[in-house]
Amino acid sequence: MVQAKSWTLAKHFDGFPKESDFQLRVEELPEPKDGEVLLEAVFLSVDPYMRPFSSIHMKEGDVMIGTQVAKVIQSKNQAFPVGSHVVSRSGWRSHAISDGTDLTPLMSDWPLDVSLSLALGNVGMPGLTALYGIEEVLGLQKNETLLVNASAGAVGNVVGQIAKIKGCKVVGTAGTDVKVAYLKELGFDEAFNYKTVPSLEEALKKAAPEGYDCFFDNVGGHFSTVALQQMKSFGRIAVCGSISTYNDATPQTGPYPHLTMIFKELKMEGFMVNRWEHKNLESLKRLMAWLKEGKIKCREHITKGFENMPAAFMGLLKGENIGKAVVAV
Ligand SMILES: NC(=O)c1ccc[n+]([C@@H]2O[C@H](COP(=O)([O-])OP(=O)(O)OC[C@H]3O[C@@H](n4cnc5c(N)ncnc54)[C@H](OP(=O)(O)O)[C@@H]3O)[C@@H](O)[C@H]2O)c1
Repeated sequence: MVQAKSWTLAKHFDGFPKESDFQLRVEELPEPKDGEVLLEAVFLSVDPYMRPFSSIHMKEGDVMIGTQVAKVIQSKNQAFPVGSHVVSRSGWRSHAISDGTDLTPLMSDWPLDVSLSLALGNVGMPGLTALYGIEEVLGLQKNETLLVNASAGAVGNVVGQIAKIKGCKVVGTAGTDVKVAYLKELGFDEAFNYKTVPSLEEALKKAAPEGYDCFFDNVGGHFSTVALQQMKSFGRIAVCGSISTYNDATPQTGPYPHLTMIFKELKMEGFMVNRWEHKNLESLKRLMAWLKEGKIKCREHITKGFENMPAAFMGLLKGENIGKAVVAV
């Protein structure tokens, strides 16, 4: 018998999440049956999508959704031997029973000197999001100019680094000077703090007077409205996220993008990383190869302790993280 802890959504978020919206639950798990495994969380992911997902798909009392790197500690399923590690969609749980259908084994040749936590970050879902946004949605070409916002975060840092690998000019924005310094360290050509520049419009113009061919949008809202006006004609926009609107109690309205899109003849496409799931194995190998070659650097914001899941999640929404926000048990 294992004592399993889980974090539930006690109350639907009203605006910015608060500690009292979450509840810690403890229960005893039964022994795994034939075909099942018992998992123990090692690293858990906190991601911005959890905020809009909770409003649309969850009811109060549900366990918070999420992925984790877990260790198999008991197994009655030959595909997942004891001691092996998997990426599991178990949610915010310290332990879980699984029949294997929601598990992805970690790459068999995962290097010993690479932290398993990166399977939730640069060599996991956020890295894949960056790759597919660039290759499948934007079709980014050598020598083009790319803008990416929230660029010191989990997806954004990889977007900028892949764009540099592809021989592009990269402009990134972030919410603190320390993050901006990190972007320069990663090789971004231009980077600025969108919170302290006197005018976002002028800062975007100064960073790329020629205009932007591609815009990888993680933020939405006011930022996107201003950025669209700095696109070149026939510019392409990958709509990846809209974090500036996730905590709105009342939806933001206008200005609307249509006239800018018409006169500049822009192409805008929203996407979800899972569309290209069939390519994940190959894509993760490419991300790992870039990492091993030193072409992609990784930074993580690690919070210690399962009991700190809500704090880690709220910290992410406040912008406390540089790189991927992860909780280590
Ligand atoms: N479409 C998909 O399949 C997919 C997959 C993964 C992620 N996403 C989306 O991609 C975006 C980035 O996700 P991530 O996991 O990489 O998160 P992240 O960038 O690691 O963390 C979120 C960052 O967003 C910034 N932020 C927070 N509130 C903001 C606001 N009001 N205005 C502007 N920036 C704000 C903060 O950085 P600053 O200090 O720079 O403000 C914060 O660090 C999110 O919108 C997420 O929903 C989409």
